Amino acid sequence: MRSSQETATTKQYQSGFGNEFASEALPHALPAGQNSPQRVPYGLYAEQVSGTAFTMPRTENRRSWLYRIRPSVVHTPFQRMDAGLLRGTPFDETPTPPNQMRWNPLPTPPQGTDFVQGLVTMGGNGDATVHSGCAIHLYAANTSMTTNFFYNADGEMLFVIQKGRHVFKTELGIIEAEPCEIVVIPRGIKFQMQCPADNPSEELRGYICENFGTTFRLPDLGPIGANGLANPRDFLTPLAAFEERDGDFRVIAKFHGHLWEAKIDHSPLNVVAWHGNYAPYKYDLRLFQTINTVSFDHPDPSIFTVLTAPSEIHGTANVDFVIFPPRWMVAEHTFRPPWFHRNFMNEFMGLIYGVYDAKEEGFVPGGCSLHNCMSGHGPDTATYQKAIAAELKPHYIDATMAFMFETRFAVKTTKYALETGTLQRDYFECWQGLRSTFDRTWQPPEGA
Ligand SMILES: [Fe+2]
Repeated sequence: MRSSQETATTKQYQSGFGNEFASEALPHALPAGQNSPQRVPYGLYAEQVSGTAFTMPRTENRRSWLYRIRPSVVHTPFQRMDAGLLRGTPFDETPTPPNQMRWNPLPTPPQGTDFVQGLVTMGGNGDATVHSGCAIHLYAANTSMTTNFFYNADGEMLFVIQKGRHVFKTELGIIEAEPCEIVVIPRGIKFQMQCPADNPSEELRGYICENFGTTFRLPDLGPIGANGLANPRDFLTPLAAFEERDGDFRVIAKFHGHLWEAKIDHSPLNVVAWHGNYAPYKYDLRLFQTINTVSFDHPDPSIFTVLTAPSEIHGTANVDFVIFPPRWMVAEHTFRPPWFHRNFMNEFMGLIYGVYDAKEEGFVPGGCSLHNCMSGHGPDTATYQKAIAAELKPHYIDATMAFMFETRFAVKTTKYALETGTLQRDYFECWQGLRSTFDRTWQPPEGA
């Protein structure tokens, strides 16, 4: 039995965003000069996986050619399986209140919980069957997937790693990721999430944005110019790595919001070589070049966009992935935290580590918050009072990484999200100390 995926040297990647990558785990496994020769080297099967319609413009077209030991079609019929706390569109279990909402982290899962068992859906929107909207999940796991392989036909999955050293064994190679890194697994690509080899019960936690819409891409930079924010060279895609392993395995598919399982007698991580621009990748958020004001006023958070998935409405993303990394705050005569606001877009936030600059307490690492369309929110009372009294010298916001999934449709919460004990039912209290400071006798400063 050959098992080069088991023994592949770790951290072997190809650099770049959406490149035409090519990788072979055995020499000359990639056919020369064509995609589908009559007989493929090593007796492999050729299989194309497309992530966009064939006819998409070249700049947005995504597909890869996989050369594998057995084609993906070889499995028994799928049967519906219990999805636990995983939910899909139309997210109509219960009406979603327009309240500001915040949650503590997921409870510690029972020993032996793998990624699929540890998935919990907080909410979502749109319709996966028409490739619109997204779902937001949390997960907490402490054991590796070994005999199960997962793929998602409903959307691509953006993992925000919050805890633990993750190993993603995918059809296209192995990705290792730690907190402050993100991993994107394209629609349809099979994978296992595993604990690191030196600690098979390491707790793995994170957030997932399941994007039903167009694939994530780097945002346009406009007047920023040719460089900045997330730079393409920092995105890493794995090299080909395969295993030749037979056994009593299952492929688990997420399709139309349900989970389906099929028996398969071999590992589907059997791609010996591949080429194309449809592949998983990772990115280290600490490499983000943060751009901020050097004069006055707090810029809109779109300046912190890492990835965007555009919708058919120009300028309106299906979902944006935005981060709030360590950065200098130097704005003069400015209220430096985020202003109070009510937005068209909808904001699901999470915290990887540290303290977010709009909330002194209560927003904890591994927790999350939701502020839907037109729900007023902003800094809590303590943060507000500190900010209006602060001496405005340059200040470095250190040791923190918060993020936001900003969606065009309101996030409809699941029953679990509204009923769980981790929901902070006193969240609204954090603003109740914002008393009126209105002074009808106020006079402009002299000379103004
Ligand atoms: Fe906000």
